[in-house]
Amino acid sequence: MDHMARVAGLLGDWAQARGESSHDAARWVAAGFLHDALRDEDPEKLRRQVDPPFKDLPGKVLHGPGVARRLRDGGVEDVEFLHAISYHTLGSAGFGTLGFALYAADFLEPGRRVREEWRADLRQRAAEELHEVVKEILSARIGYLLERGRPLHPETLGFWNRLSEGQPWASASEY
Ligand SMILES: [Fe+2]
Ligand SMILES: [Fe+2]
Repeated sequence: MDHMARVAGLLGDWAQARGESSHDAARWVAAGFLHDALRDEDPEKLRRQVDPPFKDLPGKVLHGPGVARRLRDGGVEDVEFLHAISYHTLGSAGFGTLGFALYAADFLEPGRRVREEWRADLRQRAAEELHEVVKEILSARIGYLLERGRPLHPETLGFWNRLSEGQPWASASEY
């Protein structure tokens, strides 16, 4: 899907701009290419496959946990990486840097045609100001859900609370 290639491209650019190691840059790019790999899969099939905490999620949120499940079954043990993919739609208080970056890149990739100037501004700032940019995205997404009377998932609220408390991301020791 072009979307995943664009997300991966942004993540590669940001990793380089931030001076992440080549190992981490490769993880970031891989997360971009993989995060939506099962977006077109039958949600009820995914529901049977995902780990227990995800089984009751709305169908359109199951593709991330589904990808993480398959990667884990295939031998991937990188917990921060799998967590970032599992929660890329909802957000998570447990995100590491990679989770923040994937969450932002998924929302800011240049193929999205809504509020393009705003997105372009955030895209430019993301590498340097990842925490602030993610906070602005999350605020907009929560506002959108509230205006429409839609439910907020506890993980999304937990992500907001963590951001608002100024704790940027989970450290490696938290995994
Ligand atoms: Fe997705
Ligand atoms: Fe995506």
